[in-house]
Amino acid sequence: MNPQDVKSPLFLRNLWYFALHARDLKAGKIRHKTLLGEPILLGRTKEGEAFALRDLCPHRGVPLSAGQLLDGTVECPYHGWRFKPSGQCSHIPSLVGEEGVEASKIAVRKYPLAERNGLIWIYMAEDAQAREPSTPAPELPLQPGARPTLIEGQLFPCAIDHAVVGLMDPAHGPFVHKAWWWRSKKSIHAKAKKYAPSHLGFTMVTHKPSSNSTLYKILGGDITTEISFQLPGIRVEHIKAGRNEVLGLTTCTPLNDNETEVIQTFYWNIGWIAPFKPIAQRVARTFLGQDRNMVTIQQQGLKFNPRMMLIQDADVPAMWYYRLKKEWAEATAAKTPFVNPVPETTLRWRS
Ligand code: FES
Ligand SMILES: [Fe+2]
Repeated sequence: MNPQDVKSPLFLRNLWYFALHARDLKAGKIRHKTLLGEPILLGRTKEGEAFALRDLCPHRGVPLSAGQLLDGTVECPYHGWRFKPSGQCSHIPSLVGEEGVEASKIAVRKYPLAERNGLIWIYMAEDAQAREPSTPAPELPLQPGARPTLIEGQLFPCAIDHAVVGLMDPAHGPFVHKAWWWRSKKSIHAKAKKYAPSHLGFTMVTHKPSSNSTLYKILGGDITTEISFQLPGIRVEHIKAGRNEVLGLTTCTPLNDNETEVIQTFYWNIGWIAPFKPIAQRVARTFLGQDRNMVTIQQQGLKFNPRMMLIQDADVPAMWYYRLKKEWAEATAAKTPFVNPVPETTLRWRS
């Protein structure tokens, strides 16, 4: 399969994208973020409610995030127009009252936002007028009070597809992530993993992790792991060892056509890990950095717009990703139900 033959837009719409961590959006503050090439203002009222608006003043296009949050409204720095968290304009200071201009009829686009488990998700609708999301925000198997225990993020200088494909590709591990304490080319062996379709993607069903993964051994006990992927670029690895659980969330958020934020957020309920957190942080940074280095090198080749290959079986998850994208894009455009194209199957490869 050649990924260039599967035509779908780079950015999928009507889906939730991870925007930022709740801890990075303080009460009474606003900030800017570009998502899918769109300017977005993220804000949090003094009361703690987070909201997202298009970061362009409808008056003359000034980024509203350059203004301030005042009395629960966003004030544009240019002429002081104010906007509620709902997007509706609430005040135009220059009006004397006889112009026939009604502030309340003016609005800036509001993006649906969901905040849970310390994560802020934004729904990127196809239709700018859409107020209600057509699909629920991602649910993680966590207690409502669970908060991230470790966060590591890096900006990948590539389109979302390369970040996602790199994430689900099992064959690069022994080459890109080689380290004496992890694994090497010599540790390569044949693997068979069962897959099943799941919500907006697929799941490598619960299994015992490979014996060549040292980090798993540290957790001890009877370990199982389940790895799922869902559109637009969300990977969840859930490791259980008795009552101990680690959940690793990886999100790929496209800022624009050639920059993608890849962020790893971990949750665990294991008290004794705390002193090892600095080590875990370094490990996460090293791993993500190795992936980032590789896509950076890849960019040099992609400038020449080469044909690319996806081969059986190691690249099958990547094939599914492209098929899922195509199916989602077509279903969204035709307003028909999304049909998951992933089969239930076993994939075999050496890694
Ligand atoms: S540009 Fe925002 S108030 Fe004029
Ligand atoms: Fe990797």
